[in-house]
Amino acid sequence: MSDLKITNLFKRYGNVEVLKDINLDIKSGEFVVFVGPSGCGKSTLLRTISGLESITSGKLEIGGRVVNEVAPSKRGIAMVFQSYALYPHMTVFDNMAYSLKLQRLPKDEIKTLVDRAAGMLQLEPYLERLPKALSGGQRQRVAIGRAIVRNPQVFLFDEPLSNLDAALRVATRMEIAKLKESLPETTMIYVTHDQVEAMTLADRIVVLKDGVVMQVGTPMELYENPQSLFVAGFIGSPKMNLLTGRHAEHHQAHTVGVRPEHLDVVDKGVWTGKVIYSEDLGSDSYLYVDIGADEPVIVRQDGKTSHRAGAQVSFSPKDDLYHRFDQSGRPISGRISAPAAAAPTASDLAEPVDPRKQGEPDAGVVGGAGGVAMPADDKSR
Ligand SMILES: Nc1ncnc2c1ncn2[C@@H]1O[C@H](COP(=O)(O)OP(=O)(O)OP(=O)(O)O)[C@@H](O)[C@H]1O
Ligand SMILES: [Mg+2]
Repeated sequence: MSDLKITNLFKRYGNVEVLKDINLDIKSGEFVVFVGPSGCGKSTLLRTISGLESITSGKLEIGGRVVNEVAPSKRGIAMVFQSYALYPHMTVFDNMAYSLKLQRLPKDEIKTLVDRAAGMLQLEPYLERLPKALSGGQRQRVAIGRAIVRNPQVFLFDEPLSNLDAALRVATRMEIAKLKESLPETTMIYVTHDQVEAMTLADRIVVLKDGVVMQVGTPMELYENPQSLFVAGFIGSPKMNLLTGRHAEHHQAHTVGVRPEHLDVVDKGVWTGKVIYSEDLGSDSYLYVDIGADEPVIVRQDGKTSHRAGAQVSFSPKDDLYHRFDQSGRPISGRISAPAAAAPTASDLAEPVDPRKQGEPDAGVVGGAGGVAMPADDKSR
């Protein structure tokens, strides 16, 4: 059993409250990803779970046992950090075997455990090498292997791939996905700034802001039903376009949000503006369109775009997908009761809003309805 239960957890450094009333229930074998802006408390939360940091107040249970006062080494936890400190003078095998030797396990048992971990991480060809003769991705895999051999109940990863180049990140991400499959009983908590890692690896994502849990849910729950303007703007890359002013009022909302990938360039769309910048990425392209607000609206198109800077484009929500939020940044659910006015022109539209300035932290909100994409041509009109 490696369930993890966090109840009313607070962490203060002097007067600074870094974690504020964290409540989380993580099931045995779950892969949970913590995301949030820099400084929001992700690493601190991970370190309190590991025991490297003490808890100011609250309760932390692992496998049904309260571990607040239990030493890190006795919690059944292994942690992998962003900077993997391997022993430079030891081979890969000895790096991975080190903690087992300290536990005075028999030699043949150590060999079995190291070989098994090396097999999982495809490190067999490198066991006799020194770390300096490995690539960054291989070294990070050794650091993960070193944690695996300890057979932890709970695995904690703090941005383990952020020092790797793009190709190695993808390859190592796949290794971690495979690791998750091969250790179905092991609970894994993973901190990342990478949207793709969060969306692809997580069973559930925990979004943190200023030490508060804003929302917990599966990647798709967070993407489709953000429970605050903050989560709407944080999950998804490029981020959701958020518009206030008359257009939002037409939809009886303070803010209307549309993701770049939910906008279609059409002849006569809801918005019209001038392309100020376009990016061709090969598989897709992004148009940055000035509709008369401070920030351009981002529109994603499949493949290469034929719209260049200076061109006028008009666009509408694809399948009429958009999200509505009230003044406090909470989603508005339900149908629009009054007829929407004619499509606004560029001059009707107000500034996009900064999601970081909107919405109060919403502790412990889990799933639920609201903020759903609303059909623009609502039948009730
Ligand atoms: N020992 C400490 N004393 C005082 N404040 C601290 C201490 N350690 C961390 N903090 C503060 O706690 C807050 C959370 O830090 P933490 O490292 O958990 O953030 P993070 O979410 O992991 O950020 P990043 O994404 O940049 O790694 C920060 O504002 C940080 O300055
Ligand atoms: Mg951190």
